[in-house]
Amino acid sequence: MPLEFNASAQTWTLSGGNVSYVLHRDSQDRLLHLYWGPRLPADALTWDPKDYASFASFDLPVALLPYEVPVCGAGWYGTPAVGIRTARGDEVADLRVVSVSVEAGKPSLPGLPATYAESADEADTLSVLLEDRLTGLQVTAQYSVFASDGAVARSLLLRNAGSEPLTVTSLLSASVPFWRSDLDAVHLHGAWARERTVVRTPLSAGELRIASARGASGHEENPFMALCERNACETSGAVWGASLVYSGSFQASCRVDNFGHARLSVGMNPDTFSWLLEPGESLSSPEAVLVFSQDGFNGMSQQYHRLYRTRLARGAWRSRPRPVLVNNWEGTYFDFDEQRLLAIAEKAAGIGIELFVLDDGWFGKRDSDNCSLGDWTVNLRKLPSGLGGLSEKLHKMGLLFGLWFEPEMVSPDSDLYRAHPDWCLHVDGRPRTEARQQLVLDLSRAEVQEYIIGAVSRVLSSSGVDYVKWDMNRNMTEAFSEALPRERRKETQHRYMLGLYRVLEAITSAFPKILFESCSGGGGRFDPGMLFYMPQTWTSDDTDAVERLKLQYGTSMVYPASAMGAHVSAVPNHQTGRSTSLSMRCGVALAGNFGFELDLAKLSEGELQEAKEAVQRVKALRDLTREGTFWRLLSPFEGRYTAWAFVSEDKSEVLLCAYQALSVPNTAPVRIRLRGLLPDAWYTAEDGRRFHGAALMQQGITVFLQGDFTGSVLLLKKA
Ligand code: DGJ
Repeated sequence: MPLEFNASAQTWTLSGGNVSYVLHRDSQDRLLHLYWGPRLPADALTWDPKDYASFASFDLPVALLPYEVPVCGAGWYGTPAVGIRTARGDEVADLRVVSVSVEAGKPSLPGLPATYAESADEADTLSVLLEDRLTGLQVTAQYSVFASDGAVARSLLLRNAGSEPLTVTSLLSASVPFWRSDLDAVHLHGAWARERTVVRTPLSAGELRIASARGASGHEENPFMALCERNACETSGAVWGASLVYSGSFQASCRVDNFGHARLSVGMNPDTFSWLLEPGESLSSPEAVLVFSQDGFNGMSQQYHRLYRTRLARGAWRSRPRPVLVNNWEGTYFDFDEQRLLAIAEKAAGIGIELFVLDDGWFGKRDSDNCSLGDWTVNLRKLPSGLGGLSEKLHKMGLLFGLWFEPEMVSPDSDLYRAHPDWCLHVDGRPRTEARQQLVLDLSRAEVQEYIIGAVSRVLSSSGVDYVKWDMNRNMTEAFSEALPRERRKETQHRYMLGLYRVLEAITSAFPKILFESCSGGGGRFDPGMLFYMPQTWTSDDTDAVERLKLQYGTSMVYPASAMGAHVSAVPNHQTGRSTSLSMRCGVALAGNFGFELDLAKLSEGELQEAKEAVQRVKALRDLTREGTFWRLLSPFEGRYTAWAFVSEDKSEVLLCAYQALSVPNTAPVRIRLRGLLPDAWYTAEDGRRFHGAALMQQGITVFLQGDFTGSVLLLKKA
């Protein structure tokens, strides 16, 4: 039973794996956080009010209370998890517990992406109903704990049960207090083509805050923050992770207060969000997923990987091998016709590729990025036999057919814009800010949602499409919908996300056999929200193999390899100008959903043969790379070597991938210590060498990497 109630102590202990999370209802019906860390018995913790009541300070004693759902206005001065403005204009609230209920399993979050349980014994859910008596605001704090590893998924459901309207000014999905601040914070910082660099900062007095106000989770920050002990590393030390299942603007922060206590929070960004709650109306926060590891960052990441791969991603492709693909974007950009595409496809089929993806430029009159978004009808000049004809030809070659869309956008030069100039985000009287010569459709509007569902569905049902790349290539501006009343304008960004999720749910459930991959100028929306609808995401527009080491390493902090699109592109690389060997490019890409993104018709016979062998190897290894336990071993952020390994669930197979960026003269070969193997087993490598499991973990294995930009991929099997 992952959830236990101790009546005498009034504590609820949520436990799974080696982890416990403990809440307490105090004598004044306040909901307090007692603990989150290594597993404890249900009767281990009690709350003694003297711990804070005897406290003499300029601050009120409540300033020290470890609230689970902190509110402002009566002596607690941090960021409120729930901030409200009442009809009378004040911003004071006081939440007290009214009732508590427990259920087996995990309920879904209506209209929002969330982790799920497949059976009632996988998780327990605690729902605590809190009420602000004066206004009638009801807040249900919901905690689902997964039995397997103790991950806690939390959300807040607000309901105005009073008689006056309320404005929600702040809404956090999780706000967790720590009695200490001798910790570091870790987040994933970046930019376009440089996403998810691991940044580690010691906590100090004040607040560390990361946020997106872009209307997308964004390239700049990922909706994730972790705290860790100062000595925590990849394999040891305590780590507390908080990941937000949301694709829009967000904030994550850690504040160290004047008593040296840290508070880790994730949720909506109040700079871009407020919500009017009329009497009887409800609003749910996105879900936050809290993961604790005593075994360093690998332990945290492995829990996220398992959960997000198997209990966030959904659909027919969740647990299936993903097809090896070729995408024409970097191969042709907009300069293609059917003949050129078929020439690539023919080479693709010849080397065992399974899916051909037609990227941007197949619709309207689009020959560059200056027009036609919104006009989702095929360009017959480029593709005279239409999408159906192309798809038929590809299918005859034994290839699946994939198609790119950017459905959330409109080009000013498009029939859609000419017909509906009011459908984009804009503020009357102000310029409509263009980026990449395009505007953002206002997905908070039901008619826009319907248009997208209709337009995309028409193409999917008529053209034999097997895969969709759903792109989104700019951030929001003027995000205050003209279709909303004045007092609701700041709801636009969140209403957009709810609209997008509605569209994605409608389309992905109407086409359950199609494999969907999300994308946003590369990895500008690589977040758990999108993974709920689409099991994979294009990791970055930077396809350079050396840069990819950092990109894939950083992304793996939270996201599984099965979620990462990873392609082999041409050299010199289009983003960095760097030339790397085909073997290095293949060796890096096979650690994700492998594909090519170049004009295969331009490869020499020798290169095609090498590519063919790589495809065969990927097919042989893809179950292991998709479902194996991922271990980060050497960090590209710390030196010239990168190493990671995939270990099968039964630990009988391990794939060790090691890479060198720039070589250094007169250095010994690198020795890499593996993790997570059977200590008493013997493993035989592909090259015939035999190793003892414990020796591989304690002494390590020597890997010879000679020259710049080199890699080694070695499979070892228990034998
Ligand atoms: C951005 C994507 O990340 C690229 O892969 C490509 O699809 C372009 N958009 C097309 O416009």
